[in-house]
Amino acid sequence: MSGKVLIYGRGGGIGSFVASNLAQNGDGLGFTGRDEHKLKAVTEMSKSSTEATSIVDLGSFPKAGVAMIFGAGGGIGGALVEALSSSDSFGHVIGFSRKTSPSIDLMDEASLEHAATFAAEMGELRLVIDATGFLHDDRQRPEKSWRQLDAGNLARSFALNAIGPALIMKHVLPLLPRSGKAVFATLSARVGSIGDNRLGGWYSYRASKAALNQLVRTAAVELARRSPEGICIALHPGTVATALSAPFSATELDVHTPAEASRQLLAVVDKLTDESNGGFFDWRGQPVPW
Ligand SMILES: NC(=O)c1ccc[n+]([C@@H]2O[C@H](COP(=O)([O-])OP(=O)(O)OC[C@H]3O[C@@H](n4cnc5c(N)ncnc54)[C@H](OP(=O)(O)O)[C@@H]3O)[C@@H](O)[C@H]2O)c1
Repeated sequence: MSGKVLIYGRGGGIGSFVASNLAQNGDGLGFTGRDEHKLKAVTEMSKSSTEATSIVDLGSFPKAGVAMIFGAGGGIGGALVEALSSSDSFGHVIGFSRKTSPSIDLMDEASLEHAATFAAEMGELRLVIDATGFLHDDRQRPEKSWRQLDAGNLARSFALNAIGPALIMKHVLPLLPRSGKAVFATLSARVGSIGDNRLGGWYSYRASKAALNQLVRTAAVELARRSPEGICIALHPGTVATALSAPFSATELDVHTPAEASRQLLAVVDKLTDESNGGFFDWRGQPVPW
């Protein structure tokens, strides 16, 4: 279908269903109804539905390179693979997780090295996104107080959120081409910002992401010497509805779907230049304080 569609009674059940489906097809929508607030909300929702399904253009990268995602089994990682696969900006898009073959495990350096060489054999490695990360599971919850600090839990968070990604950088950064745009981005988190920490709590997650940020910044300095157009950055995806955020995001107003978040992050990645190297940016492309 093409052209504009005007929906009367958009706030109602059937109207809402029809509008969502049309939005997902990318059709231009106009709404009319009695409740101004409801209309504003559905207009925003439909806008983001359209954004979430539109084709991603990463025209700033040399054509036909390889894009690889670590953590392809996760909410954001899976959506990144999907969004990249629907765009024609890369010759190959390959995702790795603990369930792919070859598989990766952050606790197994050899698996990270193998994944990096596997992808680089397919062509020029132009975009690498590390979408792995750990916040909680059955035996570990974010700490509310220093009373809950536990050496084993701290070590586990550092192993998964800082050391694992550092080893990914060790094996991926030397494989980035020496010329032309090439990006390594790791998903950090705003709560890893020391300058922005006003609420406290979440010691292990905050500190391991802060360590990750320092590792990224340090590697960026080294990358610039080897690949002047290379870019090594940390990204904050915003609050995204995934298993990682599920127990904590209920009170947040601004929660994005993984599909929206992946497209927002890729739009930021497309705008990066060599000046962005060593930066920490949010999903809007705004710098986050360290
Ligand atoms: N969701 C949010 O609101 C939010 C906000 C700020 C920052 N972030 C960051 O965004 C990143 C992605 O988070 P998400 O929300 O997509 O979470 P998610 O759905 O839980 O995904 C986490 C990913 O990490 C992988 N992972 C965990 N332990 C691993 C290990 N030992 N070896 C290999 N992979 C491992 C998981 O792999 P498997 O699939 O194999 O389990 C999964 O792919 C994380 O770094 C997170 O800190 C998320």
